[in-house]
Amino acid sequence: MDQEIVLQMRGISKSFPGVKALDDARLEVRRGEVHVLLGENGAGKSTLMKVLSGVYLKDEGEILYEGKPVEIRNIQDARKLGISIIHQELFMLAERNIAQNIYLGREPLKNPYTRQIDEKKMREDSKALLARLGVELSPDTMVKELSIAQQQMVEVVKALSVETKILIMDEPTSSLTKREIDALFAIVESLCAQGISVIYISHRMEEIFRIGDRVTVMRDGKYVGTVNVKETNMDQLVTMMVGRQISQMYGRPERRAGEVALETKDLTGLRFRNVNIRVRCGEIVGIGGLVGAGRTELVKAIFGYDRIESGKVFVHGREMKRHSPRNSVEAGIGFLPEDRKSEGLIQQQPIKNNILQASMKRYFKRGLVDKKAEKELAERYRGELKIATPDVTRRVSALSGGNQQKVVIAKWLCTENRILIFDEPTRGIDVGAKAEIYALIGRLAGEGYAILVVSSDQMELIGISDRVYVMKDGEVVGELGREEITAENIVSYAVGKEEA
Ligand SMILES: Nc1ncnc2c1ncn2[C@@H]1O[C@H](COP(=O)(O)OP(=O)(O)OP(=O)(O)O)[C@@H](O)[C@H]1O
Ligand SMILES: [Mg+2]
Repeated sequence: MDQEIVLQMRGISKSFPGVKALDDARLEVRRGEVHVLLGENGAGKSTLMKVLSGVYLKDEGEILYEGKPVEIRNIQDARKLGISIIHQELFMLAERNIAQNIYLGREPLKNPYTRQIDEKKMREDSKALLARLGVELSPDTMVKELSIAQQQMVEVVKALSVETKILIMDEPTSSLTKREIDALFAIVESLCAQGISVIYISHRMEEIFRIGDRVTVMRDGKYVGTVNVKETNMDQLVTMMVGRQISQMYGRPERRAGEVALETKDLTGLRFRNVNIRVRCGEIVGIGGLVGAGRTELVKAIFGYDRIESGKVFVHGREMKRHSPRNSVEAGIGFLPEDRKSEGLIQQQPIKNNILQASMKRYFKRGLVDKKAEKELAERYRGELKIATPDVTRRVSALSGGNQQKVVIAKWLCTENRILIFDEPTRGIDVGAKAEIYALIGRLAGEGYAILVVSSDQMELIGISDRVYVMKDGEVVGELGREEITAENIVSYAVGKEEA
């Protein structure tokens, strides 16, 4: 491989009020390599990439680009150097179509004087870009009609629509299907062959070994080390990352399932049909299947976000008459959505308020919020889930992606609701915190909680579930008991037995 160094970041520091997000961070990237940036939630990965792409100004340190010192003061500076970023959280205008989002702020003009936009060119160029990535979407599709996975693909297309030398991908695959990931990786390979360098952030360890050339590990905003992928292994990386060894990822103590807490009878909605599932107290039930199989739609409908066309939902044997999130919460259900950004959190509110959002009623004293109890509770969950923040009165938007996910979990834990539905609970969560969350889910089940988990992560489903339903094209096509939960069984149902 070409060993030419295109980028060096040295001694980079960046503080936010009360947090030193970067402390003498370092990174060196070669031409045409996939350089993985690894670290726990809150380690500073996104912040370092935001410094590189001109979103944040660094406090200290220097950046050398092709051997020469450069100042990156804003996004335009970065863009001029050929640095593009796909952010961890999606930024899309829902009310515009795909082409308009790809060319947002730099639309091709038909006439520079009237500033009339060349819609036709925009559409055709977008179409070509989408085709290049193998994304089967029309440039005219409105973004609000896209799934998160599809929006993520559009973000990739958008980043590649400008001349790029360094492409930063901050967790690009967290909600893509296997086929979409394969398409993305093929693109990454061809970009590297053209001499483009890719800085890749992911919590999926297996991806590092699949596409990474080198890995830089960060911890607490500091540089830990850089290793060649060929000369390392999972254990070494995890140890570098968390500073200790993780012995047990999934532990499944013996549990006894009790009465049925949640049940559906022939439930039919927009993207699922005739679903009959059951979750008992003290049981963790997984729903497997491919992205697009209707799993998210099903759980959203059960919780009352989406319409139910026919069929019934029973909670502790009682039929739910009117479906709405509010009624579901009243009935004792909690829901952790897939898209935490828009559905799980109020970004501009303090962490504390978000944690207490669903259980406010319990903390009212004579019409006033019991401030002390409120703070104590928020603090307790900060500790228990290791939410990385100096202060729970900070805004949620200041937390790293993985830590935001923990806040959503905390929110439901402090309600008294004992039926919890988790849609992709550990997406974007680092290995250390994952182990903590699995332990926590297991503990809750041990205390009698009924837990329904949708997950695309096979290891996760296999590791934590007592029972798994597999969905395909909107229907439950298989049910696996504890002993039958294997990757082969899940996949063979998910793709249809004959094809497997
Ligand atoms: N805008 C901000 N204001 C205040 N604090 C921030 C801001 N952005 C990040 N931080 C803090 O800086 C630290 C590093 O966050 P960063 O987002 O870089 O982590 P990360 O490594 O990307 O984590 P994750 O894997 O969870 O995405 C965290 O403690 C975070 O709370
Ligand atoms: Mg991040």
